[in-house]
Amino acid sequence: MADSQVNQRRSPGSFVAQRVKQLSPSGIRKFFDLLASMEGVISLGVGEPDFVTPWHIREAAVYSIEKGYTMYTSNYGMPELRQALARHLEGRYGVRYDPAQEILITVGVSEALDLAIRAIVDPGDEVITQDPCYVSYMPCVHLAGGAFVPVPTHFENEFKVSAADIEKRVNRRTKAILLGYPNNPTGAVMDRAELLKISEVAQRHDLLVISDEIYDRLVYGVEHTCFPSLPGMADRTILVGGFSKSYAMTGWRVGYACARPELIEAMVKVHQYAMLCAPIMAQMAALEALKFGERDVLEMVEEYDRRRRVMVKGFNDMGLPCFEPKGAFYVFPSVKPTGMSSEEFAEKLLLEEKVAVVPGSAFGQCGEGHVRCCYATSMAEIQEALARIARFVQRHRGRS
Ligand SMILES: Cc1ncc(COP(=O)(O)O)c(C=O)c1O
Repeated sequence: MADSQVNQRRSPGSFVAQRVKQLSPSGIRKFFDLLASMEGVISLGVGEPDFVTPWHIREAAVYSIEKGYTMYTSNYGMPELRQALARHLEGRYGVRYDPAQEILITVGVSEALDLAIRAIVDPGDEVITQDPCYVSYMPCVHLAGGAFVPVPTHFENEFKVSAADIEKRVNRRTKAILLGYPNNPTGAVMDRAELLKISEVAQRHDLLVISDEIYDRLVYGVEHTCFPSLPGMADRTILVGGFSKSYAMTGWRVGYACARPELIEAMVKVHQYAMLCAPIMAQMAALEALKFGERDVLEMVEEYDRRRRVMVKGFNDMGLPCFEPKGAFYVFPSVKPTGMSSEEFAEKLLLEEKVAVVPGSAFGQCGEGHVRCCYATSMAEIQEALARIARFVQRHRGRS
């Protein structure tokens, strides 16, 4: 090889694909990195239960290791887990899935979302979703070569997405609507009548719906509507859900996708090469959760509900308007009365009062002017955090 060629060797970074170069790092990560370098911080930042996975669920995984269940499972996941899930979904929501062909166990809902999007999106296909939304939706669509089409949602309407606004954005390139309710970051829920209207849009324009229902169990005083239970929607919905939030199992990495066999088969094609299967110990734990974890879920929901009320009141009392979110474990107060952008608010609050919240802008343009605060933390910490934030707001109100 000539010397001139050696000198022109590419730098490691230049091997990175354009699509990946164009992805911006998650707005949440930046704050966690800053937070990791500080002491005495109360974090309302991470979207993760503060509860440890209930002992009987952990024990099921210990048992699996003890008994030597250390091998691969079927690409689709353990048959017993799929059967239990089919029973669970039919019992709760009346939706029927054949455990042999219509359920896929994934490595968290993260993988289920990625698979669903990769399985259906061709280059140039458009996917419509609500803004603000969970941080992985846009990157997954972009990595699949698709176009991401956000639909604005607003505080005045409690961040619900309207069917009419979705329909305005439908064109011949639209492939799917991606819904995430109960919503991260806003805590918004959608009732059955509103979801019905969206299902009509999907049917009118022959679209698929990917419904991210990871927070289905975390609702307060309202009923969760499972999207594929709506008339005509079972054939055109990929339902994704999981164990991370309901059973306090974020570290186990188990989720699932349910859809008609052709769609699940397409997702399995990607899953079998990228992931092969979810870890067997985690699947055994998930099976235990489904069979015997109901009481734990109800206890955790009751506790989240108490904290939720304290948070909503706390923010409204200090003059940061906060609608009452009926799902997930987030509140999404407006920080506009301080005159700061959501990023400026979050950064100053962290540095001055050592409370971590996530700027709403990390979740889309419509999140600007708000911050996401997760109440899956102890009541004592919530109360201390609220006192610190109130002090901060008092100091900065009208100053910036
Ligand atoms: C809306 C939403 N979908 C998916 C996920 C990913 O969940 P998992 O831990 O199951 O991968 C999260 C996690 O925060 C989420 O909030």
